[in-house]
Amino acid sequence: MASSVYIFDAYGTLFDVHSAARRHQDRAGGQYKLLSNIWRAKQLEYSWVLTLTGSYEDFWTLTERALDFAMHSVGLIDKTLRADLLAAYWTLDCYHEVPAVLAGLKARNVKVAILSNGSSEMLDAAVTNAKIGNLLDDVFSVETLRLYKPAPQVYELVTRTYQVEPKAISFQSSNRWDIAGAANFGFRTVWINRHKTPNEYEGMGPSLILPTLEGL
Ligand code: LAC
Repeated sequence: MASSVYIFDAYGTLFDVHSAARRHQDRAGGQYKLLSNIWRAKQLEYSWVLTLTGSYEDFWTLTERALDFAMHSVGLIDKTLRADLLAAYWTLDCYHEVPAVLAGLKARNVKVAILSNGSSEMLDAAVTNAKIGNLLDDVFSVETLRLYKPAPQVYELVTRTYQVEPKAISFQSSNRWDIAGAANFGFRTVWINRHKTPNEYEGMGPSLILPTLEGL
């Protein structure tokens, strides 16, 4: 059955989180990949620990704290670089296929939206920078719930808003943990395995694996 609603994760799926460190790689002492990986891993870890402990702080605060940890870990002390990396996070590159894929879905008359752990301010900036706002029906941020994915209540935001069954939703994410959460909730899941990483979370999706969003 064709899905009537296509929901996209934002960071890593539509927007390249590593583009911030890549832009400033010449100032990261050859460690930009390590820096970027630690930055991302800590940002996610903080979100999960907060939700599991019943706490909440917005995703931007977690992004700042994670960068501080990452810079410290690789021995970088550079306030200007810190500011520039954080500024770059507001204008992350979108993956090259994103505008055409979203336009193709809109032409099929399905609903297209983002569901992200990002704050609405961060997401608005990324969407505006990528010029894809006109291709999206909605941008759902977890900030109204004060819970982070993969809490089921986050995925429920979509079914509640659109008044559809979970199985009517096609959910795309490059984050395997996010696919596990979405599959657990009952969405049809498409794992965008951009970096050819091994499969995880047996029994928790995906319905389909694609190397990029092309082919949706
Ligand atoms: C998102 C991040 C966490 O929800 O990938 O957009």
